[in-house]
Amino acid sequence: MNEQGGRLPVEIDSTVAHEARVYDYWLGGKDNFAADRALGDAIAEHIPTIKTMARANRAFVGRAVRYLVQECGIRQFLDIGTGIPTSGNVHEVAQSAEPSSRVVYVDNDPIVLAHARALMTSTDEGATRFIFADLHDPDSILSDPALAETLDLTQPTAVMLVAVLMYFRENSEVEQVLGKLVDAVSSGSYLTITHPTADFDPEAMAGVVASAQQSGIPFQPRGQDEVAALFEGMDLVEPGVAPVLAWRPDPEPSGITKLHPEHEVDPRSAYYWAAMARKR
Ligand SMILES: C[S@@+](CC[C@H](N)C(=O)[O-])C[C@H]1O[C@@H](n2cnc3c(N)ncnc32)[C@H](O)[C@@H]1O
Repeated sequence: MNEQGGRLPVEIDSTVAHEARVYDYWLGGKDNFAADRALGDAIAEHIPTIKTMARANRAFVGRAVRYLVQECGIRQFLDIGTGIPTSGNVHEVAQSAEPSSRVVYVDNDPIVLAHARALMTSTDEGATRFIFADLHDPDSILSDPALAETLDLTQPTAVMLVAVLMYFRENSEVEQVLGKLVDAVSSGSYLTITHPTADFDPEAMAGVVASAQQSGIPFQPRGQDEVAALFEGMDLVEPGVAPVLAWRPDPEPSGITKLHPEHEVDPRSAYYWAAMARKR
């Protein structure tokens, strides 16, 4: 049973912190347990603004998807490392801009699976599917029948890897996974990444890495050059690899800046790089 009294699938272990639930805790969600909140709080000791960071990353998802639909004409999304559904899911943003948008979500956390079934709906014109799979095995994602039933990879597709690649320790492994995903999509497709970094506050990020590792979660921050290298051979969209808060910020004050009505938010204060690039 979960804390709201519902029945949990057997494979959900509430005693061990999970990435998706820690992130849900920071976003103010209810789908988290004591172990998740303990790790979330331990990390917050190193980065007191962590909840703002999580919201900044989430707000980026909305801006990126709107940009892809409205400015790039993208109608298909492959969002890997989806997270527990929250407000502004990819399909909601995409389909409100263009109802025929089609979205495939992928996550390897059973609690995301449990929620995805219940929450991920679609417009009649579009489609939304969920694949329970691990990004370490991109072939299992690409060969899943739900993908071919929902997306036509001969047409431009946006591959979204938002706040997920830090769980891969080795750059070589990230490059291998990205190579397969980018190979699988057509010319004119887009790759979107956000990634935590130690570039802005090395000491704070070292604390985050240590807390995550104590909880058994690999966590590998990457520098701006390393993130830029992930887009090799692709054309980066302006402004390139930028602090997540500074990537095409909304002209109107966002929810993030409203959190701090009395002062300007330093765009580097959310320790994430964000970038998007087009496949030639
Ligand atoms: C920090 S959340 C990010 C959620 C969402 N992309 C966002 O930025 O708002 C990371 C998500 O990636 C998922 N994840 C972590 N490792 C994964 C893997 N190897 N394969 C698939 N999903 C993974 C976690 O379960 C979690 O839901």
